[in-house]
Amino acid sequence: MSQPGKDTCERAAALREQIAYHDYRYYVLDDPEIADADYDRLFRELKALEATYPELRTEDSPTRRVGGAPVSGFASAKHLRPMLSLDNAFTADELVAFDRRLCDRLGIEEALSYSAETKFDGTAISLLYEEGKLVRGATRGDGQTGEDITHNVRTIETVPLRLRGVRFPKRLEVRGEVYIPKAGFNALNARLANEGAKTFVNPRNAAAGTLRQLDPRVAAARPLEFYAYGIGYHENHALPSRHSEILEELREWGVRVSPLSRVVEGVDGCQNYYDDIAGKRDELPYEIDGVVFKVDRLDYQEMLGFVSRAPRWAIAFKFPAQEVTTVLRGVDFQVGRTGALTPVARLEPVFVGGVTVSNATLHNIDEIERKDVHIGDTVIVRRAGDVIPEVVRVVPEKRSSDAQQITLPTECPVCGSDVVRPEGQAAARCSGGLVCPAQRKEKLRHFASRRAMDIEGLGTKIIEQLVGGGEDEAIVRTPADIYRLSMEQLVSLDRMGEKSARNLLAAIEDSKETTLPRFLFSLGIPEVGETTAANLARHFGDLESLAAASRDELEQIPDVGPVVAQHVHDFFDQQENRDVIAALVGVGVHWPQEPSVVDNRRFEGQTFVLTGSLETMTRDEARERIENAGGKVTSSVSRKTNFVVKGNDPGSKLKKAEELEVPVIDESGLLGMLG
Ligand code: IVH
Repeated sequence: MSQPGKDTCERAAALREQIAYHDYRYYVLDDPEIADADYDRLFRELKALEATYPELRTEDSPTRRVGGAPVSGFASAKHLRPMLSLDNAFTADELVAFDRRLCDRLGIEEALSYSAETKFDGTAISLLYEEGKLVRGATRGDGQTGEDITHNVRTIETVPLRLRGVRFPKRLEVRGEVYIPKAGFNALNARLANEGAKTFVNPRNAAAGTLRQLDPRVAAARPLEFYAYGIGYHENHALPSRHSEILEELREWGVRVSPLSRVVEGVDGCQNYYDDIAGKRDELPYEIDGVVFKVDRLDYQEMLGFVSRAPRWAIAFKFPAQEVTTVLRGVDFQVGRTGALTPVARLEPVFVGGVTVSNATLHNIDEIERKDVHIGDTVIVRRAGDVIPEVVRVVPEKRSSDAQQITLPTECPVCGSDVVRPEGQAAARCSGGLVCPAQRKEKLRHFASRRAMDIEGLGTKIIEQLVGGGEDEAIVRTPADIYRLSMEQLVSLDRMGEKSARNLLAAIEDSKETTLPRFLFSLGIPEVGETTAANLARHFGDLESLAAASRDELEQIPDVGPVVAQHVHDFFDQQENRDVIAALVGVGVHWPQEPSVVDNRRFEGQTFVLTGSLETMTRDEARERIENAGGKVTSSVSRKTNFVVKGNDPGSKLKKAEELEVPVIDESGLLGMLG
């Protein structure tokens, strides 16, 4: 093939530039200069040139948004500055209190200026630009490290592949939200439904799910959009003095920022902005779940700092939960992990808070009685954010004469065992225990879940198949059976190839090595969550002592009241449960001995702050060990901090420690103290 001539190279460069300029006019300024057809012509010409001379295809060519190769997994991406979250306010009083707190802290009398913005209901990402070129897109992850999703982010037309001009930082992290507009969401779901594929519940899940696809062609075919709302790290750049000016700069660099942001004065300004946006909410082409106020002056932001994972200088003022009326068609009882029967309302489908709702929780039978809910009633349903929709109350005036009373079934709807309702407890339970397939499934799902035994790949669908509908069909009945699964049994399952089966067996094997708190949590003792499990493990040190503990002894432990003590005691009292534990130990599940409580409170009352990365353990492990020794780990240094533990590349906390004269130790110091 011939080489492109100088003219051709120049033409390609000019086309790239023109297209980038028109993208900027269209997406950032929302003020296109040319007709769509003319834009398409430029685009086609560039594509044709690149097809003839592939060497003209630069990394940042607008034609390169689609067609990247699928990735085999997600690399982790460490953010150069942590990605924080926001504190929430739900009432005007909370907003007033927020503003007052800040003025007090800053010692100012005059009204504070805030950058008022909409709160996009999508998913946060961080874009890294080096020398103006997009080099990485990442999810938020745990705030410190996310997943590298560059392949998908590149497909989003509103994310510039290259920054405009030359006056941008050498390295720049742009922070913002990826979302799917309402119309695009409906079209996407319609298409998925047509293809017989699973639809998404709401645009946020659709956006997050799309960004986590391995094949960028999936993302390219979905209507993702992006708005920036701030920056993270920046290098070689003098920042302006206000957040609102940063947003302006981003716009100049060709990054799309919301036209709805504006600077407001004091709490009144915030309240007006909120009212204004609340009035526009339904007309906006995308979903928002509130507004955000950020102290505009960056020097004030600096002075205010952070509390745990959120800045003190910003707050999200959320819209109230949405409520609608609909008709209750029926009630089903679902059986959970502990056998508790939860009444689920089957509703006439109704659109609320951005999704169509046809089920809502009625919590328990007491609630049904208290709210006097009948089948056929007109009811008010509420949905707030991600929470399960609930039936708030009935509209009594609308009750018809044939409305039906709701009664608690006497038999479990899944296994037919008796339903029992212990005196004084709200929940009615199926008495079937592991005989009940519903309980078995939920127990196993909990057992395998990430925070419990963490068996990757053992999800709901596989568990459903392993448990089956009845006792006879079950391949897996108790948790120990998981450890007896064979390759042959796994490949016989639906949609289970040899490779996934092998991975699953490896994950099962890996899970045998665990910790006592995890193991206890995985047993699914009613009311024993992660924290209680950890407290129990720390107090007793081993399983035998815990199993032998009396209710009185149990009640000595922080967070353990009479109800939890009773549950723990009852659990270990049952032979069946002791058999399950023995079987698990029998198949090789093991954990290191927890240091016993006696020599284990040496950090009692002491507060530690960790900064930088450690060599022999992760920060989470360090935290766990400090807490196991009775200490506390907090995220910011104050005069109350007893020790700052300094790792590699310590952050500003080290400086703070020096200022406040808090003792600083290094990793070996900490290990020494831990013994
Ligand atoms: S600022 C330093 N601004 O809300 C504060 N966040 O609840 C960092 N969000 O993870 C966030 N719109 O995904 C900020 N205008 C906005 C936002 C916004 C939506 C999301 C973001 C963040 C979450 C925190």
